[in-house]
Amino acid sequence: QKTFNIGLCGLGTVGTGVVKILQKHQNEIVHQIGYPIEVKKILVNNMDKKREGNIPLSLLTDKVEELVEHPDIDVIVEVMGGIEETYEVLEKAIQNKKHIVTANKDMMAIYGSSLLQFASENECDVRYEASVAGGIPIIRSLTDGLASDRIHKIMGIVNGTTNYILTKMIEQNRSFEDVLLEAQQLGYAEADPSSDIDGLDAARKVSLLSTLAFSMSVQLQDVDVRGIRDMSYDDLFYAEQLGYTMKLLGIASRDEGKIEMSVQPTLVPHHHPLASIKDEYNAVYVYGEAVGETMFYGPGAGQLPTATAVVSDLMDVVKNIRLGVTGKTSVQPQFETKLKHSSE
Ligand code: NDP
Ligand code: HSE
Repeated sequence: QKTFNIGLCGLGTVGTGVVKILQKHQNEIVHQIGYPIEVKKILVNNMDKKREGNIPLSLLTDKVEELVEHPDIDVIVEVMGGIEETYEVLEKAIQNKKHIVTANKDMMAIYGSSLLQFASENECDVRYEASVAGGIPIIRSLTDGLASDRIHKIMGIVNGTTNYILTKMIEQNRSFEDVLLEAQQLGYAEADPSSDIDGLDAARKVSLLSTLAFSMSVQLQDVDVRGIRDMSYDDLFYAEQLGYTMKLLGIASRDEGKIEMSVQPTLVPHHHPLASIKDEYNAVYVYGEAVGETMFYGPGAGQLPTATAVVSDLMDVVKNIRLGVTGKTSVQPQFETKLKHSSE
């Protein structure tokens, strides 16, 4: 019986979750795809760090070649973060005919289009469901479930850390810094949390969703970004008194072929469904011409929700390997981007 082998780049919050799910849900995985999935090698930074769970130390390495050049590894699962160097690692992996599953929105927002193109030329798959909204299958929903529709608007809470901070500040009257520290300890925040609190993480997700929803190759710098770094308890309190909850919203809309994208703190009326999204949860509202209004809700960050998306992507890749259709299923942007407020 064939076993599919993965090289896991990163054994932090998400990487550890991937190992846990592969260990605990192997029966379900074999039932769905017909074969077991095994972790063959794990790339880490610090070989001496104490590791959570039941992980054989013999799997760990700090040499990337041991994964990307390993003859028995079928898929590289990249959950280590980083942009340029990580992109180069994934390019090397593809040159060696490895398929890619990644949770890395930082890299995908900049190099996603090139990576997908290069992978398709090499008949490799790239999957990145976990890069937007953690455990919510929003990428699949746009590329599969809503693929026949013309999407006009996407709006939502796409950063778990900032939603956690805004929720706990107002509900528990705690300071911004105190709750941010807790979000870091819970594994929600990025390695550099300024990308969460300054809105960049959400902007990366908005650009990825816009590319898929509008079939345009969107640039990250086209997203107008404001974060929540300066938000005080008083700001949140007075908003509540006036009937609003403060949320960091990512918004992307298309009107007459032109798109507009932003991330900004927004006063959401109490009766609006987005006002009730708490803690690290995310919610994405999608308006399509034919389908009308849809809403996707779930945990937007954290170990097991994110790892669920990663392992499901992995299973998809294995299904494609078995069907012999790898490299043929990536959705590439089709139209030139036209911005609503750009000078023409
Ligand atoms: P962590 O910081 O918890 O883990 C990163 C892991 O990668 C660590 O094991 C680290 O090694 C390893 N690593 C980092 N850089 C290198 C390198 N240059 N060479 C070798 N190993 C390296 O990050 P997370 O698990 O939280 O996030 C991983 C990715 O998933 C990021 O791209 C993040 O944006 C994304 N993501 C995270 C979510 C979350 O909720 N945390 C949700 C969705 C996406 P060592 O252990 O030795 O330090
Ligand atoms: N730091 C990110 C967040 C992780 O808080 O949403 C999930 O992408």
